[in-house]
Amino acid sequence: MRIFLTMIFCLSISAYMSKIHAEGKAAPLIPYPQKVEWLEGNFLLTKGTIIECPAGNLKDYFISGIKMLTGLDVNSNSQNSSENKIIYIIDSSMKNAGKESYELTVSLGMIKVTAPDEEGLFRAMQTLFQLIPAADKGKKTDNSISIQCCKIADSPAFTWRGLNLDCARHFMSKDFIKRYIDILAYYKFNVLHWHFTDDQGWRIEIKKYPNLTKVGAWRKEADGSIYGGYYTQEDIKEIVAYAQSRFITIVPEIEMPGHCLASLASYPENSCTGGPFEVGTMWGVIKDVYCAGNDSTFTFLENILDEVIALFPGKYIHIGGDEVPKDRWKECPKCQARIKAEGLKDEKELQSYFVKRISNYLYSKGKEVIGWDEILQGGLAPGTIVQSWQSMQGAVEAAKLRHYTICSPTTNTYLNANPEDLDLRIAYSFNPVPNELTDSEKKFVLGGEVNLWTENAPQKTVDSKLFPRILALSEVFWTNPKEKNYDEFHSRIQKAYDDLTAMGIQYGTESKAISFSTSYDEVKNEFVINVTPGQSGIDIRYTENGSQPDSASTIYTTPIHADKTVNLRISSFRGNLPVGKEYSLSFDFHKALNAKITLLNKYAEQYRASGDNSVIDGIRGTDNFRDGLWQGYDGVDFEGVIDLGKEKEISKVSPKFYMDANSWIFLPASVEISLSKDGVNYYDKKVIAYEINQKTSELMQKEFPAEFGSQSARYIKVKAVSIKKCPDWHIGAGQNAWLFIDEVEVE
Ligand code: ACM
Ligand code: ZN
Repeated sequence: MRIFLTMIFCLSISAYMSKIHAEGKAAPLIPYPQKVEWLEGNFLLTKGTIIECPAGNLKDYFISGIKMLTGLDVNSNSQNSSENKIIYIIDSSMKNAGKESYELTVSLGMIKVTAPDEEGLFRAMQTLFQLIPAADKGKKTDNSISIQCCKIADSPAFTWRGLNLDCARHFMSKDFIKRYIDILAYYKFNVLHWHFTDDQGWRIEIKKYPNLTKVGAWRKEADGSIYGGYYTQEDIKEIVAYAQSRFITIVPEIEMPGHCLASLASYPENSCTGGPFEVGTMWGVIKDVYCAGNDSTFTFLENILDEVIALFPGKYIHIGGDEVPKDRWKECPKCQARIKAEGLKDEKELQSYFVKRISNYLYSKGKEVIGWDEILQGGLAPGTIVQSWQSMQGAVEAAKLRHYTICSPTTNTYLNANPEDLDLRIAYSFNPVPNELTDSEKKFVLGGEVNLWTENAPQKTVDSKLFPRILALSEVFWTNPKEKNYDEFHSRIQKAYDDLTAMGIQYGTESKAISFSTSYDEVKNEFVINVTPGQSGIDIRYTENGSQPDSASTIYTTPIHADKTVNLRISSFRGNLPVGKEYSLSFDFHKALNAKITLLNKYAEQYRASGDNSVIDGIRGTDNFRDGLWQGYDGVDFEGVIDLGKEKEISKVSPKFYMDANSWIFLPASVEISLSKDGVNYYDKKVIAYEINQKTSELMQKEFPAEFGSQSARYIKVKAVSIKKCPDWHIGAGQNAWLFIDEVEVE
C-alpha cells in the first residue's frame, strides 16, 4: 500500500512538471477556456492536413481562415495523408454542455473537435486559430505549423458578449466593420451592437425617407468641412450575411426619443418646435427630441423600423431611450395634450409612453426590444431588455422586475475612456452579475457589452481605443468569474501582443503609457525629468528637436537633465511599433520656478494637476486637458499670489488657459495681474481680455500676457475671472463652466 502511494505521488509530480513545461510554449488563449490541459508534443498542420467537417460552409470558412492567418493552404495536397487530420463532429448528446460549448483535443496525428451544434464548432475553430503560434501568423508561409498538444473543454459564462460600435459620431467603412466582425469572432464575442443614429449623424439608408441620409448623414464641421457617410441597404445586407456566417448577431440601434438631431434636421416636422435644425457638431446631450404628441412621429418611426426589421434577421432591435431632456416636451402643447389624454403623471411617464408604444409595435412584428437604463423611468413594457450603462443599478432594478438585462457600466466597459482612467485591471475586474441579486434574479443577466462611443474616436483610432482592454472583457464575458486571475491574465496578454501585431491590430496601452515626475535642481539650475513606463515590455523614446519620435529615437534610460527651456516629444514603443499616444512636454525656465503660491480658490480634485505649485512648475500642459498638468476650476475664478522669495525684475507675466467648449471648458472673461513688493500693496494692475468665439468644437490654448516693462517685485497676483456658467447657446447653459490653467510664466 505504501509503495503504491509513493508511485502515484511520483507519477503526479512528473505529470505536473510536463504540464508546466508545456505551458511555457503554449499559445496565449483569450478568453481562457474553462478547462485546458497542455500536453507534450505537437500536431503538424500542413498542406496535406485533411479537414473533415459536417458543415461545408464551416469547412470552407476554416480553410480560408487558416489561409488568411498564415498563408497555408490546408487540405490542398493531393497526397493527403489520413495520418494528419482535423475532424469536426457534431454530437447532439453534448447538448447538456450548452450552446457554443465544444471539446477540442490536439494530439500527435489528429485534432478532434466535438460540439453539440455548428456554433460550438465555430467557437472551437477560433481556439484553434489562437493555438497557431504568432510567429506563423501574418506571414505567407508554405511551411508546416506546429500546434501544441492539449485537451480543452469549453463553454461561455454568458450568452451575450457584445461590442457596441458608435458609427454615428464617426463613420466606419464597410470593410472596417467586416474586419471587426472577424476580430470579435476571434475573441469569442457574439454580438455587434451597431449604433446607427445620433445627433451628429444618421448612417442607415431608409428608402422611404431619403433625407435621413441626404441631409442627416452629413455635418458641417467648425472648419467648414463636411463630414459624414452612411451604409446603403446593400452594404448592410452584405455585412449582416458576413456576421451571420461568423455566428455574430447584429443588433441595430435606432435612437429615440432623444439623440435624434440628425433625424430632426432631415424631417423637422417630427420635433416639438418645427425646427429648423442642423446636424449636430457639438457633443453632449441636445434638448431637441422627437415630439411625443405627434401621431405622425410614431408613424415615421414605425416606417423606419419596418425597413430596419427587413434588414436584420436577428431577434433584437435597440431603441436607445437614454439621455432624453424633457425641456421641449414641457413647452409643447401637443406633448402636454398627450400627457393629459393618456392620464400620464409627467414627462417621465411620457418617455415611458413613447418607449412602450414603439416597443409594442416591435413586439407585434416579432422582435425583442432593448433600451438603455433610462427606459426604467415611468415603467417598462413587458419583456423589454434593459442595458445598464450609468451604473449597475439599472441591471439590478431590471432583474428584480424579471426583465433580462445586459451590463455595460461606464466604469468598466466604456473603452472610449482613456486607459489612464479605465485601465486593463479595472476592465478585468468587472463582474457582469450584481452581487445584490438572488440566484433566481441572477439568471436575468444575459451578459455584457464593451462600448465604444466615438466622439473622440475616428476609425483610425478604434484599434488603439479597444485594444488591449477589450481582451480583458472578452475574458470577463466568457470565462467563469471564479477562474479569473489578473496576474495570470496579464502575463498571458504580454504574449498575445505578438498575435495582435501579426493580425495588424494597432493596439494602444493597458494603462497610462508613461508617467512623469519632475524636479528642479536649484543649485545646478536644471530640470530633472523622470519617465516611468506604465506597463512592461515597452521602450520609451524621445526627441528634443521637435521631431516626432520613432523607433530610432533616443531611448530613455536615466532621468533627463535640462538646463534651458526644452520641448520633449515622448512615445512608447513595443519593438518598432508605437503604442499609445505621444506626449509632448515643454519645460520653461522662468522666474517663478520653485516659488510659493497661495491659491484663494480651490481647484477641482480630479483636475488638481500636481497640486498648488503645478502652475509654476515649469511644465506646460499639453493638448489634452486630462494630462495631469492642467489645473481645473469648477465654476470659480482662479486667484493666486506668487511669492518669488525676494524681489526680481519682472517684464512679463503670462498665464495660459485651455478652451474646449465640448468639454465645458472656457477661456476666462478677463485676467487681472498686478505686482507688489510687500504682499499688501499691489500696483500696476493690468487687465487682459479678448473677444474670442468659443462656440466651436475646436480646442485652443491661449496666453493672456501682461507686459510690465521692467518692474521690481516680490509678489505677483493673478486673477482669472471665470465665465462661471456655460453660455446660453451651450448645451450646458446655466450650469458650471470650467476654467483650466497651466503655467504662469514669469519673465
Ligand atoms: C449612453 O452612454 N448614453 C448610453
Ligand atoms: Zn412635442
